[in-house]
Amino acid sequence: MKILVVGNGGREHALAWKLLQSQRIQQVICIPGNGATATAARCQNVSLRIDDFEGIARFALVHGISLVVVGPELPLALGIKDYLQRHNLRVFGPTQAGAQIEASKSWAKSLMQSAGIPTPNFAVFQEVEKATAYVKDRGAPIVVKADGLAAGKGVMVAQTVAEAVEAVESLFQDGFDTVVIEECVTGQEVSVLALTDGLSIRPLLPAQDHKRIGEGDTGPNTGGMGAYAPTSLVTPALMARIEQEILQPTVEALRQQGIDYRGVLYAGLMISPQGDPTVLEFNCRFGDPETQAILPLLETPLEDLLLACTQQRLAELPPITWKPGAAACVVAAAQGYPGSYQKGQAIAGIEQAEAMGTTVFCAGVQLKQQQLVTDGGRVLAVAATGDTLESAIALAYRGMNCIEFEGMYYRKDIGHGAKTPSSMSG
Ligand code: GLY
Repeated sequence: MKILVVGNGGREHALAWKLLQSQRIQQVICIPGNGATATAARCQNVSLRIDDFEGIARFALVHGISLVVVGPELPLALGIKDYLQRHNLRVFGPTQAGAQIEASKSWAKSLMQSAGIPTPNFAVFQEVEKATAYVKDRGAPIVVKADGLAAGKGVMVAQTVAEAVEAVESLFQDGFDTVVIEECVTGQEVSVLALTDGLSIRPLLPAQDHKRIGEGDTGPNTGGMGAYAPTSLVTPALMARIEQEILQPTVEALRQQGIDYRGVLYAGLMISPQGDPTVLEFNCRFGDPETQAILPLLETPLEDLLLACTQQRLAELPPITWKPGAAACVVAAAQGYPGSYQKGQAIAGIEQAEAMGTTVFCAGVQLKQQQLVTDGGRVLAVAATGDTLESAIALAYRGMNCIEFEGMYYRKDIGHGAKTPSSMSG
């Protein structure tokens, strides 16, 4: 079986890495991939753009690709599934209509509202004056969201009315024609990613990520500076509620809208101090860097799960099996990220980190004259598993100590304060 993975980040490296553990898989092709997927055994990069659907379809048809796995949201929102499906290719990921759950916050909020799925109160505005008047009336803190894909930069939790007004104005100035203004809720954020075939769901291990650049969850938002799984915040009883009150009704609501959603339904949840889950957002794809912490614990062959989703036979599969214990990943970023940063710095120490028992998932990494060099803001993640979350985190940091590149920055507090769920510890 040959599988094509679309994307070039750490998430796509992790997907390719996991798929390559199966001897049934002859080859994984990454479009466009990164420096690590270029050099992995039985893995190959093909230099096509992720929105070049015609080129991707031609490649997949000529090379007998059994399954296309789409990593990022952008090609899904642009309709890659619809296009490749018309060419009789099998694709893991939702259609363009399904991807609206991430690509349009207002659409997703209306879906949740009509299906009775818990989500903070909200209002939608197409005019800056009405949006700012609403913010002034409601007061702060308040959440301002762009109604469209914004590469992780479309959500602002404003602590003052002035900040909220500025956020509204800058979103309209940046070209968004709609904003969603949402009640600010408190609690702890968790990521619950579920696989779905449009009928049934299979949740993956619940994870937590660290979105801010600075230690103690301070500073600007990033794509994610580290993650761990499972999180003890999501007990089996809470997971049952999340399935029954959120995931399954969402798949049902999508179906009632005529959307056959087969892929990942990623619920970004807030767990209130009372222990109740509410949906902050849905994403239509695997999380990054949650995937780099979840997949090292997955024992079930990933391709079995992905294929079953595309063939609508998820319910026939035995339960997903997981390694006991926990996993964590720590992201190393280029100095200046999430602002401007330099590229082209030589990366050293990956082999040494992996010799210690970690796995290094590359993201903004390019292969230049046989040398791995930095090529993005988030450069790589060092992932490790352990009997306990504490031991997984400690090993990930020992691995990170081996990595070097000029201007390297990483948070020292990933998983700080988190504990291995007692039912999961080794
Ligand atoms: N970790 C956040 C995301 O994947 O959107």
